Order: sequence, then structure tokens, then C-alpha cells
Amino acid sequence: MNIITLEQCESTNALARDASRYHHGDIIVAIAQTAGRGQRGNRWESEAGRNLTFSIVLEPKHIGASEQFMLSEAVALAIADTLQQFAIDSRIKWTNDIYVGDRKICGILIENELLDSHLTRSVVGIGLNVNQTLFSSWIPNPTSMASETGINYNTDEVLKVLAARIEERTAMLDDNLGRGRIENDYHALLYRRDECHRYRLADGRTVEGTIRGVRARGELIVEFDGELHEFLFKQIEFIIP
Ligand code: BTN
Repeated sequence: MNIITLEQCESTNALARDASRYHHGDIIVAIAQTAGRGQRGNRWESEAGRNLTFSIVLEPKHIGASEQFMLSEAVALAIADTLQQFAIDSRIKWTNDIYVGDRKICGILIENELLDSHLTRSVVGIGLNVNQTLFSSWIPNPTSMASETGINYNTDEVLKVLAARIEERTAMLDDNLGRGRIENDYHALLYRRDECHRYRLADGRTVEGTIRGVRARGELIVEFDGELHEFLFKQIEFIIP
């Protein structure tokens, strides 16, 4: 992988969308982002120089439009693998937030381009909280590697491990054996799996339910009222203390 470091930009995801400039394996790292983008149109705030904010360009060959979720699973697992390498236990909160306990340590924003029902180009944006320990009050439940362990990390070293783990995990998508492992490992690390918790549904109702798993296309399976229910992104909200 080829690392390109910028002192400052608006958003590495926005930059990486330029296909004439950035290609498969390029990693665009920003020391500071002035308009970092999060999921659901939120912004991503990160203290300059203390964390990792970067985007990886992937041009996958054999991923169909209906298989996009597997890429998201592979990336989430690569981050969990990285944290494990630094002795931090994490879980994957569906769809692809990385949590330590009930706190978010990393966010992922994947922007895919499709052609003829195949994934042609993917910009994988990752914001990993590394050394920041104080966060703005509007950020719901943040944590960082340093908050968890009290250690100050070298962000370049963390990035190197992350790039290697992403390469490994995405290579697993090349064959069915690897794809099966990605699905199993994702399932094994699913935040709140088989535990009873409260969720808010799209109609405003709250329910006590138990996550049982995730479909191959990404729907979350939650059991409540004696039945299994499936949810797409934004159709269910986790209520976190
Ligand atoms: C989330 O809301 O959880 C996703 C956050 C993704 C943030 C990263 S930081 C690097 C890349 N560039 C962006 O503008 N966003 C992503």
C-alpha cells in the first residue's frame, strides 16, 4: 500500500474520490481535516495530529453489488484485529462502528462506486481515535486507544499495522473460504450479540430485543416479541447508556 500524508485537507474521503489521481492501495492520511465526514451526514471531529484520519482506495475485482456488506465486514474486522494487536478488546457495532465496551473508538465511512452490478471502486474512510483523551460534549460516547490503556501511541506504527490487517482481511474476500471466515469472525465480534438490550425502531417505538446475527447482505436480525425481525441501516437505533 502507498501512504500519502497531507498536513491538512477538508476530508480524505472527498479527496480520494478523484479516480484520476488515486488508485487501488493508495492511503491518503490527513494530519488535520477541516470538514471530516461521518455517517448519516454527521461531521467527524478529531484533534489534529493525535488520531488517525485516512482513506484507503480499493478497486475490488470480484465483489457484486449485493455483496458490498462483506467489504464493510472485512474492514471492521481489520480494525478489531489491529486493536487486538495493541491488546485492546473491541466489538463491531452493526453496521461498522468499532466499540470498546459501550464506547466508540473508531468510525468507518465507506463510499462505493458500482458498474454493471459490480463494485468497481471503494473509498474506505477510517477515523480511529488514538491519543485524544478529551472530546467535545456533542460526541455521544467516545473513547480512544490512549483512554483505554493510558499509553501514548505512535500513530505511524498504528497505521502500518492497520494497513497490513486491511490488506489481509480484504484479500480474504477473493475466495469462498475466506468469505466464510469473514462472516463468521464478524458474527463472533458483533456488539451485543445474544444479549437483551433496548432499541428504538423507525416508528419511534422502543423494544427490548436480542441481536441474533446479520444477513449476508447486511440486515441486522433482532429477536423480540417471540419473533426474528430484520432491519436495514437507519431502521433501528441502539439505545446505549
Ligand atoms: C462515522 O461517522 O462513524 C464515520 C466516520 C469516518 C471518519 C473518517 S476520518 C477519514 C475519512 N475522511 C472523512 O471525511 N471521513 C472519514
